[in-house]
Amino acid sequence: TNPNFVKIVEVGPRDGLQNEPRPIPPPIKAELINKLAIAGIRNIEAGSFVSPKWVPQARTQMAGTAEVLALIDSFPKTGYSVLVPNQKGLDDLLAILSTSTSPNSHAKPPPPVTEIAIFASATDSFSRANTNVSISGSLERLAPVARRALDAGLKVRGYVSVVVTCPFSGRVDPRRVRDVSRELVQMGCYEVSLGDTTGAGTPASIRGMLEEVAKEVDVGILAGHFHDTNGTATANIMTALDFGLRTFDASVGGLGGCPYSPGATGNVATEDVVYALTGDKLFGDIGEPYTRLAEIGEWISGVLGRETTSRAGKALLAR
Ligand code: HMG
Ligand code: MG
Repeated sequence: TNPNFVKIVEVGPRDGLQNEPRPIPPPIKAELINKLAIAGIRNIEAGSFVSPKWVPQARTQMAGTAEVLALIDSFPKTGYSVLVPNQKGLDDLLAILSTSTSPNSHAKPPPPVTEIAIFASATDSFSRANTNVSISGSLERLAPVARRALDAGLKVRGYVSVVVTCPFSGRVDPRRVRDVSRELVQMGCYEVSLGDTTGAGTPASIRGMLEEVAKEVDVGILAGHFHDTNGTATANIMTALDFGLRTFDASVGGLGGCPYSPGATGNVATEDVVYALTGDKLFGDIGEPYTRLAEIGEWISGVLGRETTSRAGKALLAR
């Protein structure tokens, strides 16, 4: 693999929009996803199949993922994934993917989803809050989901949440992050994305955490998923890059966070990551300049009734 190649996974349509208090119509989400693909984004997490009973916002927000998938166009160079918490989520996805495409029917071809993402946590308290089971309970639940997805020909990506601090139990032991990461790899995840859910990470704490995880997991299959709550996400990416990671998750316009939940913020903005990487010739993932991303960030933020939180996006559009 080319050490000068950085892969960006755009998670705005899922992680960014999942916290929005007001419903966003599926055609808007599909338009966002299509714009991102046209701008040259090669990996997009398009939505999730989670319980609408359990997560209030899922009732209005992510419940429309099936509709969104039906509305996205297929761009051969872009891969799409969806987040799945359990067997039911996978069943729902597989049902959509097996849509008939016989020449006699006018059914559209199935959506171009080639990958699922499963998620676990580094603390029991966050695991219970997010998925209603302990860490070990969640890993037991996910193992057969991963197996079945692999059998169905899908790739499986794993997330570990709260890799630095947990909103319920404070500072997180990097050994727990290491253990959960290793378990996800053993389940068949080709990549493990390390989620600084609270955005508390600093270059020092991210490095310390990575040193521990790297004892058992090859850095080449690790990804950084940094929320930008304290403005350190780009610095954390640079630290992780230095450590050997080459895959980072980001949200266009810095989407995410809930206006009604003080302190909650989105992922690092895709434009900011691209801007920071471009000058170093480290960015080979998309050919387009980040101008298009900045415009998309501005557009979707406007749809949501606010300003983009991308610093690079704002700076560019102010020129
Ligand atoms: P549970 O209540 O233990 O599950 O929730 P259950 O199996 O008992 O089901 C309860 C009800 O939900 C049932 O309905 C199920 O049918 C339904 P009822 O029988 O009462 O009518 N249900 C579903 N409906 C649709 N899709 C499904 C599904 N599953 C069950 N897949 C469960 C357990 C895991 C399902 C729940 O806790 C859940 O959905 N959690 C997801 C939470 C979530 O979406 N969090 C945000 C994504 S993770 C994240 O953002 C972190 C990340 O970005 C990294 C980082 O930043 O750290 C990835
Ligand atoms: Mg996240």
